[in-house]
Amino acid sequence: MTGFDLRILRDARHVLVFTGAGVSARSGIPTFRDALGGLWSRYDPASLATADAFRQDPALVWGWYQWRRAQVLAARPNPAHLAIAELARRVPRLTLVTQNVDDLHERAGSQEVIHLHGSLHAPRCFACARAYAGSDAEPARVEEGERIEPPRCLRCNGRIRPGVVWFGEALPERPWREALAAARACDLLLVVGTSGLVMPAAQLPQVARQNGAKVVHVNLDAEPADGATTFTLAGDAAEILPRLLLQMADDQAGP
Ligand code: OAD
Repeated sequence: MTGFDLRILRDARHVLVFTGAGVSARSGIPTFRDALGGLWSRYDPASLATADAFRQDPALVWGWYQWRRAQVLAARPNPAHLAIAELARRVPRLTLVTQNVDDLHERAGSQEVIHLHGSLHAPRCFACARAYAGSDAEPARVEEGERIEPPRCLRCNGRIRPGVVWFGEALPERPWREALAAARACDLLLVVGTSGLVMPAAQLPQVARQNGAKVVHVNLDAEPADGATTFTLAGDAAEILPRLLLQMADDQAGP
């Protein structure tokens, strides 16, 4: 943890935690861009994660998201999710913004999670956008590659789509506004397990930095940083974050 002084965390008044797929990796949920096992190294996003793809082959797209949703339902939060929930109890203020469409932060005990890319667990009508709560949207066992005809909207008979943000779609307005406000207001941003390649979410670190926050990257693949305003903690978030909490506790116990 070179260059990173624990005081940065201890003295923070408002911590923004911004997470990506890497935070759920140890729960067995695949990331997108990791060369080994990343979803986008095995699947073409254009044929699965766009509105056009859904129009062309709704059963393929719905089946793929139901497969991912079933994976999430069978998974459990890992020590990274738990450490973030615990950190919220130790700092004066914490805002949690995630790009993940799973609910593992919530199940770890985090409150008010801001989901920038929607949720696998909030299907809605492709035509009229009404939320869908039918039990046939809940996957039992889904095989990888299984085609499943999406259910139909009870109001307009439109097809039900996954409640995630697809490529080419805008981020949901309120979560994005709240995330930007937190990036402007925080004094410490923890960026955990994201490649930072998908816009506009990837703007958050820049916004935070421009507004004077320190930025700490926790990533298996962390690039070295300047060590003045930007820091990197390279490694598995499920090990680094619990260790940070332990060090914080030791530090507070102090001599
Ligand atoms: P990526 O797959 O692009 O990046 C995952 C990042 O997590 C990489 O930088 C890895 O090095 C890091 N990583 C992997 N395992 C880790 C671990 N155990 N501990 C710490 N870091 C780890 O995933 P995202 O950045 O989340 O969007 O991708 C952003 C968006 O692209 C997703 O929300 C999704 C995707 O297309 C939509 O679906 C709209």
